[in-house]
Amino acid sequence: MSNYHIKHLEEYFQVYRKSVRDPELFWEEIAEEHFLWRKRWNKVLEWDFSKPEIKWFEGAQLNITENCIDRHLTSKGEHTAIIFEPNDPSEAAEHISYTDLHNRVCRFANVLKSKGIGKGDRVCIYLPMIPELAVSVLACARIGAIHSVVFAGFSSTALATRINDCDCKIVITSDGSFRGAKTIDLKGIVDDALDSCQGVETVLVAKRINSEINMKEGRDLWLQPLLDDASPKCEPEIMNAEDPLFILYTSGSTGKPKGMVHSTAGYMVYTAFTFKNVFQYHQGDIYWCTADIGWITGHSYIVYGPLSNGATTVMFEGVPTYPDWGRFWQIVEKHQVNQFYTAPTAIRALAKEPLTHVEKYNVSSLKVLGTVGEPINEEAWHWYNDHIGKMNSPIVDTWWQTETGGIMISPIPFATPTIPTFATMPLPGVQPCLMNDDSEEVKGNPAQGKLCIKFPWPSIARTIWGDHQRYKDTYFSTFENKYFTGDGALRDMTGYYRITGRVDDVIIVSGHNLGTAPIEDAINEHQAVSESAIVGFPHDVKGNALYGYVILKDSGTERDRDDLRKEINQLITERIGPIAKLDKIQFTTGLPKTRSGKIMRRILRKIASKDTSNLGDTSTLLNPEVVQDIMDNVL
Ligand code: WT7
Repeated sequence: MSNYHIKHLEEYFQVYRKSVRDPELFWEEIAEEHFLWRKRWNKVLEWDFSKPEIKWFEGAQLNITENCIDRHLTSKGEHTAIIFEPNDPSEAAEHISYTDLHNRVCRFANVLKSKGIGKGDRVCIYLPMIPELAVSVLACARIGAIHSVVFAGFSSTALATRINDCDCKIVITSDGSFRGAKTIDLKGIVDDALDSCQGVETVLVAKRINSEINMKEGRDLWLQPLLDDASPKCEPEIMNAEDPLFILYTSGSTGKPKGMVHSTAGYMVYTAFTFKNVFQYHQGDIYWCTADIGWITGHSYIVYGPLSNGATTVMFEGVPTYPDWGRFWQIVEKHQVNQFYTAPTAIRALAKEPLTHVEKYNVSSLKVLGTVGEPINEEAWHWYNDHIGKMNSPIVDTWWQTETGGIMISPIPFATPTIPTFATMPLPGVQPCLMNDDSEEVKGNPAQGKLCIKFPWPSIARTIWGDHQRYKDTYFSTFENKYFTGDGALRDMTGYYRITGRVDDVIIVSGHNLGTAPIEDAINEHQAVSESAIVGFPHDVKGNALYGYVILKDSGTERDRDDLRKEINQLITERIGPIAKLDKIQFTTGLPKTRSGKIMRRILRKIASKDTSNLGDTSTLLNPEVVQDIMDNVL
């Protein structure tokens, strides 16, 4: 019997030990008992972090949609797979059964085929949180096409970069999207992006907001009539275990976004296993993750993880603030949500509003609460625990990354005792370690260092699309034979992990991963700017906000500083998206640099955080005098 479902602490330790002692046996038993395979694997694991090369279940064949949909049809075809909750609370929610989902996915898959899309082709999906988003993701997987979902808050430039990087032939979008009281012209953004994407032959357009849009002859097609005409039968394409399932872009500290490639079998096994355990999902439960499918959280824990367990997963189109701050709790009551998974930034924002927004609703259906994306501070944790969980629902602080595919360090509710700000212990199969600056593993407890993983787990990303060298350099070159996460962490006396934050130039703003370099590039495009540097500073809702230091070409310019600030943020919005806008922009005449010309961000970070008591040694700087000047003018 495999240890698919862990229920108490001793069992966790037992299972964990087994997963480390014999990882292959551990994952093999789980794979064998809980999934549908067309052909069995020859070898469970082959790996070499120095290349790096990682293969799980090599030789096996499967289709992930058979696991997520078909195999549930006989026992629970009429059970709800997806509950769609629209932006506007007066619009009816939609309950999509597994049978219905099967039908929709097959029709969509046939539409894709009719447009010439097949195994290995890349499909860009740029959709709001409407059922077509989940359906199109699964339709790609059905036919072996590789989906690349781009979060529909990204700008046209960001979208174009992602379409071109992996040569998508087709884009799936909608006329527009609803976001609270606003509508967004998604099709217009796609049109702009496609001006610089020569390879896109077809654009499929879902109708959502019924706006007047431009349809380009020979390229753009309304989706619904095609779906209506398509057959509801589509045999699944039989895929190899290591065939790519999807590409998802994440920002790096430098350069263009990294197209993380996830493969099929390992990703399926790992997301299913972690979903079951981290949320303690039982048949009939209603599970809701508030993330967008445009992020890894949505891929793994709205679509694949829940559906492979035959769960009911809620998809919410709207925002927590519309029509008012009670919206989340109204949805919890309406659908009797049992597991609720959100980001610390949302909790902090909600905690600032009057409690009456929570008290109006009965949230007693909740059993497990989750957080993800950034460290959760103690106040937010307590607010969540007291007012939402009523001190009766364990909080799972789940640490993981786009690159890890699934949750890595997290409590198992009802088993692991939780402590605020600690993600606690590694899940089975995960072997974390902390490294010091001399590249040695810090053994024993307590300990602090850079967080690495020593051994492969099934859902680790296999490469960066088109740039394996960068994959190696970014994750496997800092420490020999280890996957480097980019995060710092500490381990307390009991072995619990607390993630302290990024140790590279990635800044997490409202749970979104932002690289400093692309933002600086956008700022530097402004005619008046000669140089810039971005750092994060603490923000009570966003976790971190962005602080920009900008040197103007002509520092004596008569231009109004606030106008310049607006123009810079406008540029960032166009190049990346509104999430990357700067909260503060300080104009300065210099930036602290080392003698080799590297900007000393550590100093800029401290100044922006108003933490200048210990700036460290500034005497080695090329230009130590600018430090005082920057401090005197800090915003
Ligand atoms: C980075 C990854 C994985 C889904 C969402 C983010 C930070 C994530 C936690 C947590 C502290 C966390 C890390 C990580 N992070 N979860 N529970 N506690 N920090 O995915 O965009 O790839 O970002 O988010 O810094 O490296 P992502």
